[in-house]
Amino acid sequence: MAARGKPAGGGDKAAEAEEERRVLEPGAAPFGNFPSYSHFYPPEQRLRLLPPELLRQLFPPDGPETRPILGLDVGCNSGDLSVALYKHFLSLHDGETCSDASRELRFLCCDIDPVLVERAEKECPFPDALTFITLDFMNQQTRKVLLSSFLSQFGCLVFDIGFCMSITMWIHLNHGDQGLWEFLAHLSSLCRYLLVEPQPWKCYRAAARRLRKLGLHDFDHFRSLAIRGNMANQIVQILTQDHGMELVCCFGNTSWNRSLLLFRAKHTMETHPIPESLIEEEKERNRFKILQAMI
Ligand SMILES: C[S@@+](CC[C@H](N)C(=O)[O-])C[C@H]1O[C@@H](n2cnc3c(N)ncnc32)[C@H](O)[C@@H]1O
Repeated sequence: MAARGKPAGGGDKAAEAEEERRVLEPGAAPFGNFPSYSHFYPPEQRLRLLPPELLRQLFPPDGPETRPILGLDVGCNSGDLSVALYKHFLSLHDGETCSDASRELRFLCCDIDPVLVERAEKECPFPDALTFITLDFMNQQTRKVLLSSFLSQFGCLVFDIGFCMSITMWIHLNHGDQGLWEFLAHLSSLCRYLLVEPQPWKCYRAAARRLRKLGLHDFDHFRSLAIRGNMANQIVQILTQDHGMELVCCFGNTSWNRSLLLFRAKHTMETHPIPESLIEEEKERNRFKILQAMI
């Protein structure tokens, strides 16, 4: 795979120094590229809301043609959540590996921050199944080249599922309303299903406050954003009204009050109907909420 992550200053020492600098200076993480993000927002909090059998239900094996389910994790940080999702959906326990795993499920995980990507690569226990690349997802040219190069290995044009976890706010703050709209447009054209965990508006205020406290410039777009308020609702509207997706379900809220929303591209409805069992299970567990009831 081209464009693997490179240490910012060359080597472990430089990466460590860079990480330390960013822990001490949170304002120096302008993309949400916090080095210890998963310590504050542990993957388990999200996983407990997601049925482990989700992917098997969305993509039941059909016919002799076997290719892995392909996932795209955008804004993977240092890969902790990517690895946790991978294990969760294959029901792997700690320390357990599965020789067939990479034939069942493959993830392409990208992040704008090369230091985090390097760490993710180094620490990943499933290097055959998870590919980490440095990519600014808003860079159309690089995105196209890197994503198609991955997909073409499997003869595919799109990913089966995209994970978009706690990144929408950073795209929005750094690229404005138009940037958020385009980000969601690209994702919906690239993925048959999309799992989104939007940050609520109060996180935007907190991020802007942090910068002010550090005496740094405000985010370019913060004050002029017209898309604001109930961000989960706003994102549902953009994806469903503008980008041809429909909301399948909300798996509930994390303890830090972010909802997990599953969308599906409408044009794939015929070939991949929502499994009844998934709907029933979610109802039973009282975790299934239709948007109107939720927002
Ligand atoms: C708050 S962290 C979320 C990490 C992980 N998804 C999770 O939920 O645990 C947001 C991540 O998005 C990445 N990010 C922000 N803007 C990006 C962009 N334009 N392209 C790729 N990654 C980006 C940041 O570097 C950061 O690691």
